[in-house]
Amino acid sequence: MQRREFLHHAAALAALPVVGRAGAFASPALRTTVPLHVDGARLNGWLAKFDAIGRTATGINRVAYSDADLAGRAFTLDLFREAGLTPRIDAAGNIYARIEGTDPKKAPILIGSHIDSVTDGGNYDGPVGSFGAIEVARTLQAQRVKLVHPLDVVIWQNEEGGTIGSKVAVGLMTPADLDKVARSGLTVRQGITKIGGDVAKLDTAVRKRGDIACYFELHIEQGGNLERVGRQIGVVEGIVGLRWFEVTITGFANHAGATPMDQRQDAMLAAAKFTIAVNEAITSEAGRQVATVGRVNVSPNTTNVIPGQVVLTVDLRDLDQAKIDRFTARFQQLGRDIGAATKTTFAFTTMVNSTPALSDLRLMGWIEESATALQLTHQRMPSGAGHDAQEVAHIAPMAMIFIPSVGGISHSPKEFSRAEDITRGADVLLNAVLAADRGLA
Ligand code: HGY
Ligand code: MN
Ligand code: MN
Repeated sequence: MQRREFLHHAAALAALPVVGRAGAFASPALRTTVPLHVDGARLNGWLAKFDAIGRTATGINRVAYSDADLAGRAFTLDLFREAGLTPRIDAAGNIYARIEGTDPKKAPILIGSHIDSVTDGGNYDGPVGSFGAIEVARTLQAQRVKLVHPLDVVIWQNEEGGTIGSKVAVGLMTPADLDKVARSGLTVRQGITKIGGDVAKLDTAVRKRGDIACYFELHIEQGGNLERVGRQIGVVEGIVGLRWFEVTITGFANHAGATPMDQRQDAMLAAAKFTIAVNEAITSEAGRQVATVGRVNVSPNTTNVIPGQVVLTVDLRDLDQAKIDRFTARFQQLGRDIGAATKTTFAFTTMVNSTPALSDLRLMGWIEESATALQLTHQRMPSGAGHDAQEVAHIAPMAMIFIPSVGGISHSPKEFSRAEDITRGADVLLNAVLAADRGLA
């Protein structure tokens, strides 16, 4: 460090109230120019160990409420304890741990993510931000840095099933939602009980505006933009809204050989026509809207029987809620038209709704300030994936930090992010928390 620069830092140090105890950079101001760093080897070591939990021949299967999810939660609880924190599981099944600040009257800064996975998924979607947040807390403790605000670390439950844990936390969960069957086969109600929550006391898990000062989430991009443009950090401007439908198509099961082609009510044919029509509709206009038919269950699913019923899902997303609503109506009209043409009926059930969420500009600025201080390239970008942060946005300012996904692959066993990028993301999270601690009232 040049002498002139050091004198500048020394003057800054002297001019600011020292809120930390002994330690390299006790003054928050100094930390904006000389950023702190996490222990990247430790963080990536946790992720490497975590990879074995729920790994099967077809990928990572830490599906929410499964035994592998329980094992993943136990591993994570131990990480909290090794970091000198005391984790607690709230009535929603979310895991929290707190580092008290110097001013207990302040609302906490919240950081975290999820650790549950999709079926046959990867090891990075969720754990990077969850363990990155634990590492940030551990680093602050190790470097004896005291924040003014309390720091809460959260591990949201069942993010992949529709940001369930964060929806409960912001009061968006309805009793009907609790009876929906999750990917594990348990209902949400059963799942919350299995992971240590208490459905009878869900109201104690609900937080309102003002209870959280701000929320940062570190996450893999899950797309290929950062890699394509060669940027190290993504500063998320907004998260797409998403709507998941279950579409039940009812025809008439009959003999595949004895039933003439013009006398069939073939639910599979209707499903095929609908899948193509959804794709043609969503690509018929410019924009970043996306729609996916991801799950199809055919019954009786037998070679020589005309399918009597098909249940399929549609995942519809865009940054604009009005566009989501417009395409919802269009898909329902397609169902009516195709139903009439195939003598079948279409019934739509909305399974999950998450509204689009814009990031808070101040928090984005603190992320950018941190990335710059760490000499990392960065750019602003939207998130095509859904996240717990968009639920938290209902009650608190939020922003997200992205790191590159190699090949833009996610929700796949091929999902991968480099150790150095994971470390960089956690460094940005650490320094963004410090900047927010200083900048928030
Ligand atoms: O589906 C999503 O976008 C998120 O990964 N749950
Ligand atoms: Mn995720
Ligand atoms: Mn995901």
